[in-house]
Amino acid sequence: MGETTEEWKGAHYAFKSRWGATYDELCRYSMSFDLHKTIRSDFFESYLFLLENLPLVKLFTLTSEVIRGEMQFYAKAKRFYEEVPATEEGMMGDFVELNSLDVEASRAFLKKFVGGPGKADTEFALDCGCGIGRVSRQVLLPVFSSVDMVDMIDNFLFAAPSYLGMGASQVKNYHCSTLQEFTPATGMYDVIWIQWVTGHLTDRDLMEFLAKCKNSLKDNGVVIIKDNVARKGCILDQMDSSMIREIEILRKIIAKTGLEIVCVEKQLDIPEQFIPLWMIALNPPSPTQAFGKTLLNR
Ligand SMILES: C[S@@+](CC[C@H](N)C(=O)[O-])C[C@H]1O[C@@H](n2cnc3c(N)ncnc32)[C@H](O)[C@@H]1O
Repeated sequence: MGETTEEWKGAHYAFKSRWGATYDELCRYSMSFDLHKTIRSDFFESYLFLLENLPLVKLFTLTSEVIRGEMQFYAKAKRFYEEVPATEEGMMGDFVELNSLDVEASRAFLKKFVGGPGKADTEFALDCGCGIGRVSRQVLLPVFSSVDMVDMIDNFLFAAPSYLGMGASQVKNYHCSTLQEFTPATGMYDVIWIQWVTGHLTDRDLMEFLAKCKNSLKDNGVVIIKDNVARKGCILDQMDSSMIREIEILRKIIAKTGLEIVCVEKQLDIPEQFIPLWMIALNPPSPTQAFGKTLLNR
């Protein structure tokens, strides 16, 4: 694979002196060698191109390299969270001292997209990978009339009402499901909040889940992802079986969902020793933009 054309030419001339047949014949044979090599590398590139475009396979070699088997990846995460205490500390893992910084920044970010002309309504939000409802209690319930919560660990959901206190009366539904199996109802939510859980989904499942979220938004609705973002590449956390993706990988996954990034912010007050924490707001393209694209694609 590493040979250059010059090296192929070198081999051609080295053979020339030992070749019994005519020079024309030698040229034909070595050209077919060259052709074979070109076809082989072109085929490989087309194959990678197809992999990228087929929704049924993992999108990025980098990400699929770190996950060795999807079933194991999910099963390990489930086993991990079954042992996690249903407390704020349990939800934050190694980052418990970041709780108030996290909450402050989330509130400020959310404010940009809700409650005003052309912004999302403050009626109904969905908290994805909610755990015991840390985000619901501190960010969503003070803003929205109602909240739905979804998490794969029933223990967390059982603990939620007492953790939420008075706010529990605003929770309409507790869904016990993995995000990869969950389909939020169509046209239901003003805001869908997805925090510290995208890394638990494979590229394909994350892409499909975001596409389902898009259908679940009301007019002016917005999906907000808040998660750790790798400085480079894709890092597997063996302990809780999650991946930390770099922002470019996340952007590429999002680009395939039909959602558009309206705002991206790195949280600047997170101390250097922690993994960078980013907030990304997404919404469907406005009808005029979508119409423009359709015209361009003709
Ligand atoms: C680090 S905790 C974050 C909890 C909450 N979002 C917060 O910020 O406090 C991750 C949560 O995601 C949930 N989770 C992990 N993988 C999941 C999956 N595939 N589907 C649904 N929930 C998942 C875990 O049960 C856990 O409650």
